[in-house]
Amino acid sequence: MYIGRVTGQKVLQTRFRAEFDEKVQVGEMLVVEDSTGDGMYLIRVSDVEHGAEMDGEEWIISTAGSALRFDQEGSGFEPSRHRQRMYSMVSCVPLGHIHDGGFHKTKTIPAHFSMVRRATSEDYQFLEGYMGDLEVGRLRSGDDVLDMAVSISGISIPHHMGIFATTGMGKSNLMKTIALSCMKRRRYGFLVLDPHGEYYDGGEAGKKGLRDARIEGGLEVFSSRRLSGPHNTLRVSANEIEVADLESLYEFSGAQLECLQAAQWRYGNSWLGELHRKEVGTISSELGERFHEGSINVIKRRLENVFRFDLVTTDPKLSVTGTIIDALHSGKVVLVDTSNMFEAEELLVSTVLSRAIFEHHKSMYSDVKAFDSVPPVLIALEEAQRVLSEPKGSIFAQIAREGRKFRVGLCAVSQQPKLIDNEVISQFNTLFILGLSDKNDRDILRNSAKQDIAQLDNEIQMLMPGEALVASPFTPFAIPLRVHLYEDYVLSVEEGRSTQARRDTDFF
Ligand SMILES: Nc1ncnc2c1ncn2[C@@H]1O[C@H](COP(=O)(O)OP(=O)(O)OP(=O)(O)O)[C@@H](O)[C@H]1O
Ligand SMILES: [Mg+2]
Repeated sequence: MYIGRVTGQKVLQTRFRAEFDEKVQVGEMLVVEDSTGDGMYLIRVSDVEHGAEMDGEEWIISTAGSALRFDQEGSGFEPSRHRQRMYSMVSCVPLGHIHDGGFHKTKTIPAHFSMVRRATSEDYQFLEGYMGDLEVGRLRSGDDVLDMAVSISGISIPHHMGIFATTGMGKSNLMKTIALSCMKRRRYGFLVLDPHGEYYDGGEAGKKGLRDARIEGGLEVFSSRRLSGPHNTLRVSANEIEVADLESLYEFSGAQLECLQAAQWRYGNSWLGELHRKEVGTISSELGERFHEGSINVIKRRLENVFRFDLVTTDPKLSVTGTIIDALHSGKVVLVDTSNMFEAEELLVSTVLSRAIFEHHKSMYSDVKAFDSVPPVLIALEEAQRVLSEPKGSIFAQIAREGRKFRVGLCAVSQQPKLIDNEVISQFNTLFILGLSDKNDRDILRNSAKQDIAQLDNEIQMLMPGEALVASPFTPFAIPLRVHLYEDYVLSVEEGRSTQARRDTDFF
């Protein structure tokens, strides 16, 4: 069944006429069958307008006026009476041209009056070759889905990812879905830093969390709050904290900063613990009486926050960074729940862990054989705009710039990509774009996406929760998808496993 015929217009925009009662949606995937036999063109709807074969809009407006009058008179109005002259004009963006047995970029226009039809999953079969091993959802056409899985590739992990959407549009759900796919594969390390306490058990009634994935050995949980299931106590060592980490989290005057640096120089690795433990007078004299006792006092008060919650320990043996790195290297998802902490402490822990992973990979890099066995590690950070607003300064910005070489990727989750530094955002090769209502946010993504998504602006505004576009250099165009609802995905994975188990027992 075809739904319209091509009327124009140029390589970068195909327009066709559809019957007036044919419902065509923005974001729908359509196919143009070239009438001269030159293969088929894949297109997506970017806009739909009314059209009438009379003097432009005037006829529509005056006919609407007549309809209103008829209604008032009670004689009624039947639009289909005018169906011959009414139509919809549909504007579409080209996705590709399938001819001579393969997919090509669209470089020409379909013949006049070529027929347009809706796409089927067979039309998009060729995309399977571009799909990776981490399933996230199904191919979407408008608000419908086609029977085809959309997966990202583990290769894209060190090339960094961004998950961007207005609140409630499905960022956390997508993160859980990626985490479950990682657990299924056990080939990649995925560190999920959770400041909201929503990933462990779903955070609220009716939602599922990572613990519900029940994949043997797939998940390791760290938290300094009490959770309902097995978990490790989250602790990092004071020795792993650097002056720069504190600098980005607390306000320090120039003199206080100098004092911190002097302490690090004087006490070495254990500087933070020493500052915390020693008396003001002792510190002052050990630092050569160069700093006011008042400054030292302020510093010590700040440090009390750091040492609150038993989170930072002066005993390096109690730090969990090594355990976390081992878990990541064995292909696990590691969930670090920081929801009981104040923001500064939460970011401090995230910083320490991320730096430990980055430095570890960096130190292994020169040993080619050892480095070969290291799986890519993805570090996911919620509200990433907090630490990525500057091109330098935070370990996260450094990972965005240099992580690729060392197989460490950043997955930045944010409601406000416009607050992320341009240079940093341009490092994110895979962009998951869910519904984004703010124009400035969309503009930023448009400029940094590795595919031209300019014409998809209309659609991005209209996306419903869970509907997304994923732009990356790994596919020929930005792929529209509906992300799996995590609660359903967990069940389907479980179902798949028990079917597999039944098959295995039947076999033996
Ligand atoms: N893929 C999906 N399919 C169906 N519904 C979804 C999907 N993703 C999200 N939703 C719905 O939207 C709700 C909000 O999703 P989610 O918590 O993931 O949003 P968020 O972007 O993380 O929001 P916030 O910015 O507040 O953290 C979910 O509870 C669910 O009802
Ligand atoms: Mg969320």
